[in-house]
Amino acid sequence: MAQNASADVGLIGLAVMGQNLALNMADHGFKVAVYNRTRSVMERFVADNPGTPGGLVACASLPDLAAALRKPRKVIILVQAGPAVDRVISQLLEAGIEEDDLVVDCGNSLWTDTIRREREYSGRCLFFGSGVSGGELGARYGPSMMPGGQASAWKHLEPIWNSIAAKVDESSGRPMETAEPGKPVRGGMPCTSYIGENGAGHYVKMIHNGIEYVDMQLISEAYFLLKKLLDLKSDELAAIFAQWNQGDLDSYLIQITAEILRQPDPADPDGFLVDRILDAAQQKGTGKWTSGNALDMGIPANSIAEAVFARCLSALKSERVEASRQLSGPAFSYRGDRRELIAAVRDALYCSKICAYAQGFQLMRQAQVEYRWKLDFASIARIWRGGCIIRARFLQKITEAYTRDPELVNLMLDPYFEGQIREGQAHWRRVVSLAAQAGLAAPAFMSALAYYDGYRSEFLPANLLQGQRDYFGAHTYERTDQPRGARFHLDWPHPKRPQIPIDSGG
Ligand code: 6PG
Repeated sequence: MAQNASADVGLIGLAVMGQNLALNMADHGFKVAVYNRTRSVMERFVADNPGTPGGLVACASLPDLAAALRKPRKVIILVQAGPAVDRVISQLLEAGIEEDDLVVDCGNSLWTDTIRREREYSGRCLFFGSGVSGGELGARYGPSMMPGGQASAWKHLEPIWNSIAAKVDESSGRPMETAEPGKPVRGGMPCTSYIGENGAGHYVKMIHNGIEYVDMQLISEAYFLLKKLLDLKSDELAAIFAQWNQGDLDSYLIQITAEILRQPDPADPDGFLVDRILDAAQQKGTGKWTSGNALDMGIPANSIAEAVFARCLSALKSERVEASRQLSGPAFSYRGDRRELIAAVRDALYCSKICAYAQGFQLMRQAQVEYRWKLDFASIARIWRGGCIIRARFLQKITEAYTRDPELVNLMLDPYFEGQIREGQAHWRRVVSLAAQAGLAAPAFMSALAYYDGYRSEFLPANLLQGQRDYFGAHTYERTDQPRGARFHLDWPHPKRPQIPIDSGG
């Protein structure tokens, strides 16, 4: 156990993400001091990974870790989000972490916890929050990283983050692959950039996950509609997704979808694994946080919420099995052109995806007002082009849209995306109506279309709704012929209530 203060960075929490991030840093020449609550895990990890360029320093305790680090110390925490993060910070403070040392939470923490922690630990350490996306492979070979906290702290982290993040080719925006796994990519633009103060990094990571939920749900709906309407087998569906991955839909999630669909079932090589996976989705909560935040701020992120509810509905598996025997739906068989339907589903997916991103960016636009951040949307889209779960060719277009107009009110208003929806919407509407006719649930396609149609409508029926509110609760309304903000109330001519005879008791 080397205890001279020579390590560049410390890492606490050697679960899958922690191990991979530690190895990524060590591959890039950083000397990494590692600690895990269960000592044997740390010892095995260090023993199994000799000879990395930077090297790993085994630390049996947190005081050991503090002693192993050069000043100002930089300690990354990768433990379960929630109370465990506070526990580790308290232990670090007892172990000798000082005011000018950085404690960096890289978990999926709630952004308001990060805001609170930065305040709470101020003067005792420099607390910093960074979102990290890309799963275990991303952590190992290049994630997308969304750092938020004090700018003075960021300058100490920046060289590490720039080294270990995924890289994209700046002109094309395409991710750069490592020549060999584990060999650092040279050149390219790192998929990380300072997001803003306190919880901004974790907030943006949460929005990433909200979009991820919709992306996954849309792909699953496309799969389901094609499977049901065209009676396609899994490998035939895989070929369609692989084909889509050659065009505008090119993305990590479409790519892995094709791979998942063609995977044979290890228990039955004649069948496909996906056909044996139970249709009951789980979730850890970041989509729920995004939707809750949308409701709190009054921002319509209905596709994100719908994607969360779609998971909730799927999880009611036994209830659905029962209901399927009782509740009726239409008998429908698709008799149209098969190729045309595949193209239509592709367009529906693409248009709905634009809406999901529009909602995510609309949330960030509002959050920066609520939390006094100054978010750079082009930069956020830029760092999502590689490394993260939602990485996609499409993000280059979003980068360009926000570069053209940093104040863009809604992504759908950008000329490129407006044109894309104009071209794809006939197909999108066709798919939504086919789903309704066939009785196939496609909530994300449908809610995205409702968002689009609602957003582009000069008139919505909220006039009647306001009338109802004023009628029963005197909640007032604004008038179309009066300035905004002027409020009116009518003493509505309520029909006389029936007179109830009073029993005099005599
Ligand atoms: C990422 C992912 C990751 C997330 C998992 C599981 O960006 O690497 O978003 O952070 O935790 O995808 O999330 P759910 O369990 O909620 O699906």
